[in-house]
Parts: sequence; C-alpha cells; structure tokens
Amino acid sequence: MMVVFAIMGSVIKKAYMEKFAASLGLNGRVEEMMHNVKLIVAFANEDVGIDNFAKHAEENLQISLKAAKKIGMISGFFFTIMMGFQIYAYYIALFLVRDKWINPNTGVVYDRYEVIICIQGMMMAMVSCGSIVPILPAIINALIAARRIFDVIERKSEIEGGKVFADTQIELKNAIYFEKAVFRYPQMPESAPDVLNGATFKIKAGTSTAIVGPSGSGKSTIVQLVNNFYNLKEGTVHFDETNLKEIELKSLRKSIGYVSQEPVLILGTIRDNLRYGDKDASEENMQDALT
Ligand SMILES: Nc1ncnc2c1ncn2[C@@H]1O[C@H](COP(=O)(O)OP(=O)(O)OP(=O)(O)O)[C@@H](O)[C@H]1O
Ligand SMILES: [Mg+2]
Repeated sequence: MMVVFAIMGSVIKKAYMEKFAASLGLNGRVEEMMHNVKLIVAFANEDVGIDNFAKHAEENLQISLKAAKKIGMISGFFFTIMMGFQIYAYYIALFLVRDKWINPNTGVVYDRYEVIICIQGMMMAMVSCGSIVPILPAIINALIAARRIFDVIERKSEIEGGKVFADTQIELKNAIYFEKAVFRYPQMPESAPDVLNGATFKIKAGTSTAIVGPSGSGKSTIVQLVNNFYNLKEGTVHFDETNLKEIELKSLRKSIGYVSQEPVLILGTIRDNLRYGDKDASEENMQDALT
C-alpha cells in the first residue's frame, strides 16, 4: 500500500513540476516583455510580442492539461481504493454478523453496533488521510520552490581565486599583462566567434589607458576579466608577476575601483551609494570622489 502511495505521490509531484516549469517560462517571457516594453513599442513589435505570448501560452495550456489529467487520474484511483476498502469492510462484516462469528477480543459474537463503530473508525481514518489531498499541491509547490532556492545556494562558482594577496590591498608595480588571452562567454552559441582571440597587451601601473574599439569589440569584457568574473579559454592575465587566478578574489575586487558602463544607484542617499564602495570612507574621501 505504501509503495502504491509513494508511486502516486511521485507521479503527482512530477506532473506539478512540469506544470510549474511551463508557467515559469511563460511568466519569464511576460516579465521580459513588460521590462522591455519601450523597446518593443519603439520597433512597433507589439504583434510579435503578442504572437510569442500566444504561442507559449498555448504550450503552457497543453502541458497544464496533461498534468491535470495525470493528477485527476491519480486522485480518482486514490478515492477508488479508499471506497473499495470500505465496501470490502462492509462485505466482511455482513458475514461476521450473519454467521455469528466470535469476536476473539471479547469472546462473544460480533453484533452490528460493533461493526458499525469499527467501520466508522476506518472511515474517519481514511477521511483524515484523504484530507492531505487538497494541501498536496501547496506542499509540492513549496518543495519545488525550496529546491530552486537550494540549487542557487548550493551552486559552486567556477571562479575560485587563490591565496596570494589574501587580506591585503594589491599594489600594482609594473603592469597588468594580458597574454594570448582567448575568451568567449559561457552562454554564447558554439558558432559565435571568440570575443578575445589571442589578445596580448599591457596596462601600465600609474598611467591612464584607454581601450578603444567599436561596439561589441570586447572593451567591457576586458574589465570583467580583470575582475576575474570569468575564466579564460586560453592564455593568462598577470598582475605584475602574479597570475590573476592565484589572487584571492576578495582582495582583488577590493583593490579595483570599477564604474560600470551602466551605473546602478542603490536605494538610499548619495552617501549610502559612496559607502557601498568603501564602508569606512571619510567625509573627505567622499568629497574627493564627488569632485
Ligand atoms: N554577458 C554576456 N553574455 C554573452 N555575450 C556577451 C555578454 N556580454 C557581452 N557579450 C558579447 O561579447 C561581445 C563583446 O561585448 P562587450 O560588452 O565587451 O563589448 P564592448 O566593446 O564593451 O561594446 P560597447 O562599446 O557597446 O560597450 C559582444 O558580442 C557582446 O554581445
Ligand atoms: Mg562596453
């Protein structure tokens, strides 16, 4: 019986997961469209957006219907088993009373009240077990949501960093060296060319270096690589004689001041924003940064 319930439970869980994954994809698309609504309207692409939504809503509907059928069948099966047991209990009771069987616990024949009490007890137990069915979706949704959260928490970053310069500010003496660096973003399709293809250059300490190139040529990518946000496919980046990969991540990133192409202001005052970069910054430091 427990095995049957376990199988039924896993089928229901799988069906809910499929349904949940489909609705997640659809929600993601809606969110994306809402986020980029100005872009869509600017290119008069509303029809494409609507068609796209309709296509995915239809897919979502089909997956949900399939899942609902599975859930309905399992629930029907569950109640059939429950009712079957009840019928069987009445059937047995009929013979016990009619043929005057002796109750081994009391030593006297079974009477109809005893049988009714026993069946009532069974029914209450079954109804209690059955009451889990309405809250099953909530339990399964919570399990799925928790799994997603734990996947993110347990995810191990591919970028580990090393031990060099642990807890110390990096003082660059000579230069940052890119040596035959080959790089592509992990999510890029195989057919796309590498962003950096054997890039070799140096950024001298104590100087200002401008990296110039057309849009998409990899300028921001170089800054991301200096911050060790990604692994190179080939080649190396050195801070003086130290390989970037051997530098402790926290020290590296604390030693680099970085204003991104699309700066983001966190909620709060300008002072809060400045302190986000250096929580111990003095008023004077902040004045300097602003001028
Ligand atoms: N997170 C990312 N995932 C996948 N590809 C990316 C990502 N960021 C950038 N790219 C691609 O890598 C290439 C280089 O992008 P990058 O942002 O470094 O260019 P850029 O020189 O800074 O351009 P721009 O002058 O427009 O800022 C482009 O083809 C871009 O589409
Ligand atoms: Mg850029």
